[in-house]
Amino acid sequence: MRANYDELAQSIAALTEGEDDIVSLMATIACEVHHSDHRFDWTGFYRVVGPELLKIGPYQGGHGCLVIPFDRGVCGAAAKTGQTQLVADVDAFPNHIACSSTTKSEIVLPVFGSNDVLLGVFDIDSNQEAAFNLEDQHALEAILNSVFGPVKPNKF
Ligand code: SME
Repeated sequence: MRANYDELAQSIAALTEGEDDIVSLMATIACEVHHSDHRFDWTGFYRVVGPELLKIGPYQGGHGCLVIPFDRGVCGAAAKTGQTQLVADVDAFPNHIACSSTTKSEIVLPVFGSNDVLLGVFDIDSNQEAAFNLEDQHALEAILNSVFGPVKPNKF
């Protein structure tokens, strides 16, 4: 099963309409995205909780590590650069944090709220090699922008 991004965007928009609590939004997106596609083995958020520091947020899948500084891992790189990281082979990524030995590839997208404040990152890990492509990137960026774009970072 591959994600139908039009349907996914519509169901997330309907479920999150009128909500501005960040954790509630993250939990809903993690759930909807995770169950939309067999490539997705770990799906979740890390939240910015301090200077250059991420902590685990809502997720689906096995346990993730709790704390990620901006200078570590794919999540840290997305947070530090503000740019989506498409990693076809995690073993080739310097500093990759192997929370699960079965992870082969991943995509990590920065999550921005209103005024372009960085709220966190959205991480999807796959047990398949090179599982993610630009279609995934663009569709997921659009979903994150439409849900979190208007949100103010005052709800942690
Ligand atoms: N993929 C991340 C680590 C987080 S866990 O795998 C859930 C990274 O290297 O940044």
